[in-house]
Amino acid sequence: MSVNAAIKAKTPGDIGAMKGAAPIVCLTAYTTPVARLVDVEADLVLVGDSVGMVLHGMDSTLGVTMEMMILHGQAVARGTTRACLVIDMPFGSYEESPEQAFRNAARLMRETGAVAVKLEGGVTMAETIRFLTARSIPVMAHVGLTPQAINTLGGYKVQGRGADRARVLADARAVAEAGAFSVVLEKVPAGLAAEITASLAIPTVGIGAGVECDGQVLVVDDMLGLFDAFKPKFVKRYASLATDARAAIAAYAAEVRERRFPAPEHIFSDE
Ligand code: KIV
Repeated sequence: MSVNAAIKAKTPGDIGAMKGAAPIVCLTAYTTPVARLVDVEADLVLVGDSVGMVLHGMDSTLGVTMEMMILHGQAVARGTTRACLVIDMPFGSYEESPEQAFRNAARLMRETGAVAVKLEGGVTMAETIRFLTARSIPVMAHVGLTPQAINTLGGYKVQGRGADRARVLADARAVAEAGAFSVVLEKVPAGLAAEITASLAIPTVGIGAGVECDGQVLVVDDMLGLFDAFKPKFVKRYASLATDARAAIAAYAAEVRERRFPAPEHIFSDE
């Protein structure tokens, strides 16, 4: 038996059971080394389709493919032993029909080892969530700002203000009733997130949704200050890795330009 096999990873059921007991710590990861760091603290590691923007320089998540998710999912699985491993379903892989969603969710789980999938959408996705959960696929839902719908939402704006409040509330209720084990609330007003959290039996995981959610998720490169092309207002930076990396690269470049090559002398000796 390997060392890893002795460690029991958290399940979607364990995450569900944390509601009302302890705040749920969630972070994204896209690579093995970062997954190893995150796995020490996180209850849930998400292989987010934000990988397209964060690691591949895309303008949105719409260009992310199944193959990209599988490759990054496999990398993250190699670095995850404790946390519940959840993988995003990319745009176009689940919206057509429950059957399409099942086929692609099963492939993502089979080929990566993730124990659950996340998909975006509320009322319109409820039937699909019911279909998947009835067929042994745990689903984390995602309502409020759903970045894959950027072209119909018209921007990365707060959702659920004013008359739109009822829509987001109905979305959250629909995914919970359909069997999701948890729901991400992205960019919804704090009061609405609190109301949803109080009214659902499943945990809410907020991102830009105030402090009353049952847990919090952040894009790891955002909170580490590694992805600093732009900073969403709700992101707190806990480190400045891009700034540190720029300084380190500049120091290296300066040494090389001065022929102070960073290697022990004997490596270059002819003896
Ligand atoms: O893709 C992602 O990283 C996400 C989180 C921000 C919730 O969906």
